Amino acid sequence: MDLHLTGRRAYVTGGAGGIGLAIAAALAAEGAAVAISDHDEVALRAAAATLTGAGHAFVTADLATSWGVAAANAAVEDGFGVPDLLVNNVGRSGNESVGTATDEQWSDSFELNLMCAVRTSRYFVPRMAARTDAAVANVSSDLAKQPESVPVEYGAMKAALLYVTKAMALDYAPGVRVNAVLPGPTWTTLWTRPGGLVDQLAGQYGTDRDGAVRRYLTDRHLPMGIATPGAVASLVVYLLSPMSGFINGSAYDVGGTVRGLL
Ligand SMILES: NC(=O)c1ccc[n+]([C@@H]2O[C@H](COP(=O)([O-])OP(=O)(O)OC[C@H]3O[C@@H](n4cnc5c(N)ncnc54)[C@H](O)[C@@H]3O)[C@@H](O)[C@H]2O)c1
Repeated sequence: MDLHLTGRRAYVTGGAGGIGLAIAAALAAEGAAVAISDHDEVALRAAAATLTGAGHAFVTADLATSWGVAAANAAVEDGFGVPDLLVNNVGRSGNESVGTATDEQWSDSFELNLMCAVRTSRYFVPRMAARTDAAVANVSSDLAKQPESVPVEYGAMKAALLYVTKAMALDYAPGVRVNAVLPGPTWTTLWTRPGGLVDQLAGQYGTDRDGAVRRYLTDRHLPMGIATPGAVASLVVYLLSPMSGFINGSAYDVGGTVRGLL
């Protein structure tokens, strides 16, 4: 199926690895030119070198700061151009409850998980509105609709991102459609890095890493297992394409989470 993305210009935040890189690769495979930003310069260079398609650019920046996002926005615009398609992907989970999360942890989560998307969108979306078939995809989380006690500071920001998605969809459609995806557990460094979710679960359950993942899948009723980044990317690419041209302000689960009615 031709998704009509050839020659489109896409910008993906947090594109050096995981879901962001899978989205960038999928867009490039559809013929889009892709810019990616990340704070991990080594991974970013390696990621950019794998991107095929109509050209690519990469920008190193700390997206958890206002000045880092401002620098990334300016660098993308100057070196790549205003995108037609924007993916607010960057994010990082924590491991805290209401009783343990410090002000600093709340603030860190706010800056990266919410304000990067707000700052990037505030800069680009009004500029994108002059284009045809412009679209934004915000990468939220299944936790946004199905709260758990941990990680509260992360889940709360992902819920706020859904609100922002709706607000932007109201403000900018039909020029720019804005939708969100809500990945369930997806196998990336968010899970595998030292101190990541696998280690946290192993500590919580008192088991080894493999046992912790098995128990988590059972406890969370995840019959599909853990998703691949490519599975999330497929949905994002569809939502950015004209094939989803009448979808706006929607949020879609991907990754096998089946709890809840919405
Ligand atoms: N993996 C999951 O199970 C899962 C589930 C639900 C939602 N998500 C969301 O998907 C998105 C992508 O997550 P992922 O699993 O691919 O994570 P990941 O850790 O594999 O990738 C995140 C990328 O963001 C970059 N990054 C982190 N902090 C940064 C900063 N301050 N400045 C610039 N770049 C920074 C990292 O270097 C990395 O390349 C996030 O918004 C995450 O919350 C992931």
